[in-house]
Amino acid sequence: MTANTPPRTFHVKSFGCQMNVYDGERMAELLVADGMTAVDERETADLVVLNTCHIREKATEKVYSDIGRLRREDGSTPLIAVAGCVAQAEGAEIMARAPQVRVVVGPQAYHRLPEMVASAATGARETETDMPAEAKFAALPKRRKSTPTAFLTIQEGCDKFCTYCVVPYTRGAEIARPFADLVDEAKALVDGGAREITLLGQNVNAWAGENAVGQAIGLAGLAHELARISDLARIRYTTSHPADMDDALIEAHGSNAKLMPFLHLPVQSGNDRVLRAMNRSHSAEGYLKIIERVRAGRPDIALSGDFIVGFPGETEAEFADSLALIDAVGYAQAFSFKYSPRPGTPAATMDGQIAAEVMDDRLQRLMAHINRDQLAFNRASVGKRCTVLVERRGRQPGQWLGKSPWLQSVHFTDEANIGDLVEIDLIDAGPNSLAGRRVG
Ligand code: SAH
Ligand code: SF4
Ligand code: F3S
Repeated sequence: MTANTPPRTFHVKSFGCQMNVYDGERMAELLVADGMTAVDERETADLVVLNTCHIREKATEKVYSDIGRLRREDGSTPLIAVAGCVAQAEGAEIMARAPQVRVVVGPQAYHRLPEMVASAATGARETETDMPAEAKFAALPKRRKSTPTAFLTIQEGCDKFCTYCVVPYTRGAEIARPFADLVDEAKALVDGGAREITLLGQNVNAWAGENAVGQAIGLAGLAHELARISDLARIRYTTSHPADMDDALIEAHGSNAKLMPFLHLPVQSGNDRVLRAMNRSHSAEGYLKIIERVRAGRPDIALSGDFIVGFPGETEAEFADSLALIDAVGYAQAFSFKYSPRPGTPAATMDGQIAAEVMDDRLQRLMAHINRDQLAFNRASVGKRCTVLVERRGRQPGQWLGKSPWLQSVHFTDEANIGDLVEIDLIDAGPNSLAGRRVG
């Protein structure tokens, strides 16, 4: 592509959380609506969109190395747009440090991507990091094709200000999308082939709105209304904050049959002093009480969490409280991270930053507990019969891959099609997946 030629093909690469992936899909839809064609290989694309994540250190460095690697053998570069949370936080720095970058667009402003790309193609450099997100959602095109599992952002932004986290700065204040828009988008996704929808938000359970008859509802009410879409078989949501697990949502896990028995509820630490320093607004015991109540209504629920090791000042004894909490919960899966100081966050300048070797050691030990419980959870599923939503082909000939209600990967080799909900007997378990056989 030479200067002044509008790009015809594009490639979007997403680096972050599920909402970042959703944003990547939405940007692709905008570019297609603008007449461009998506290509799988970034080497051949006229426009490359790097949809970045700012949550931990390495992610940012990866962006700069990715920008460098977009240089082609003949010395040319595609038109490069940097989107996502790094664009929001460090847009000016990117523009200064990487002259190849022509467009910087934040996560609340990407509805303007097509016009910014058009302007960049005439030689300009464009930056847009406006907030908040309402204007974006109003400007996005209607959803058309979808995979059997689809994401739907219902809430964006975060007012919680955990002291380690950049998200309140990159995503801005909490906004909730209106109920009617969400029902429309969910129906469009189901019409396009989705059987399962994962409702997304940085604090998804803080969503609040009014239903069609003007009643105030929360996430439980929304899930209840969406469950009335007959071809929608499964509803999931992520990520929740313990402070927003209201009674209705806890109750919904026992009463809404389409709400899958899976809850990702980050806790970060099992120690109350650390939780306070993190500004988490819940105690370890408060968290365990929620788990207990969810389990009372839905005994088979699979639990997932997030943990940070090596938060500033974390002692060995405080770390041991995280291990104890893991042992008390028995997670089906969980994510764990070494604390990463983020520019502009309160924790980055706290005393007692922990040495890298100590963090490495704690992460290994924490992961050993999580892996043990994950394998135990999978093994305990052997012998159960469940529905699997078929998502794609597996690596072995004739093999299919899908998910159990508990979000486990299940593989089997009988007759099936993508998008089918099939009855499966679970016959074998490994740490990361289960083998199944079709019933009958
Ligand atoms: N809104 C979601 C997602 C936040 S990011 C939530 O509240 O859970 C996902 C996870 O990344 C967090 O739960 C936390 O465990 C981790 N994380 C966030 N900031 C981090 C940091 N500075 N260092 C290490 N891990 C971090
Ligand atoms: Fe970050 Fe905390 Fe908000 Fe989650 S709740 S996005 S960890 S500030
Ligand atoms: Fe990353 Fe932004 Fe998501 S920082 S985790 S892409 S909200």
